[in-house]
Amino acid sequence: MDWKDALPNIVTQPSSRLRFGEPLARHTYFGIGGEATAYIEISTVSELAALARFHKQWDVPIAVIGRGSNLLVSDTGFKGIGVRLVGELAKLEVDGNVVSVGAGLSLPRLSKAMSRRGLSGVEFALGIPGSVGGALIMNAGAWGSSFGDVVTNVAVMNDAGEVIELTHAEANFEYRHSGLNTYFCVTGATLRLEPGDVETITERMQTFYKQKVETQPFAEENAGCMFKNPPGDSAGRLIDISGLKGCRIGGAEVSTVHGNFILNIDNATATDVLNLVAYIQQQVQEKTGISLQTEVKRLGFD
Ligand code: EPU
Repeated sequence: MDWKDALPNIVTQPSSRLRFGEPLARHTYFGIGGEATAYIEISTVSELAALARFHKQWDVPIAVIGRGSNLLVSDTGFKGIGVRLVGELAKLEVDGNVVSVGAGLSLPRLSKAMSRRGLSGVEFALGIPGSVGGALIMNAGAWGSSFGDVVTNVAVMNDAGEVIELTHAEANFEYRHSGLNTYFCVTGATLRLEPGDVETITERMQTFYKQKVETQPFAEENAGCMFKNPPGDSAGRLIDISGLKGCRIGGAEVSTVHGNFILNIDNATATDVLNLVAYIQQQVQEKTGISLQTEVKRLGFD
């Protein structure tokens, strides 16, 4: 029996979905990438646990793709199962200033819901289109705040399908990095936010958003910042002073608004993007002596 024949047994809830040969370009903000052999939207912890055991049993590659906002998928796609967490895995529960979130929840939704309730700490997240799970693994951030700062506990699932609660310290949050990608999946987190005034919090959230719209591109498909900032500097600034804004390879172009964004302006392929990444790295190295490292995750490349 092939794993593809056994997979439908895992996806049992009406709110979950399974499709074969799903184009991942549809599920990434870059709008780039070939097909996943299978694509699942999974809505319960028990189905996710079954998937963890399935992964172990069949040894088939599985990638939780979140909301696909920080992801470059290869032109030949992903020979495995792409997973998105929905339903109870995207929950949002509030008890005073303690907030329980599922990994599939979107950061802008969380940010807006917290401002309405007068809870401060995630105002920076309105302009980050990712999922809570991705934000935990990457320790996503903006405007001097990082998601890990407000997290007290993280729930992860191991290969046996067991959920384990980790403390903030055990999550090992660093700049755009954490220790969470060693588990099968991150399922959610507990946040501790500061109670405050609804109007002040909403205004703060909107000010951050305005700043983003003024300094970063938003109309064209992109995956956020392509490179990590080198210590004490901005990758965007280095790309800018290296004269690379507007530089184009195939359908991929360096934003003229912010140098650290690569835009899919005309049916770019993943190959166009990677060729542009390599060109930027080589030019910035030559002109500034600094070696830029990519931040965007890759899927389906050997
Ligand atoms: N700058 C330029 N030219 C550019 C871009 C920036 O001269 O093309 C200058 C700016 O004028 C400013 C400095 O560089 O003086 C820093 O720029 P900015 O405030 O935009 O911050 P950044 O360091 O480039 C970081 C994060 C962003 C986050 C912003 C806002 C990283 C890699 N980038 O960018 O995060 O939104 O701060 O807080 O950490 C992301 O991670 O995907 C991302 C976009």
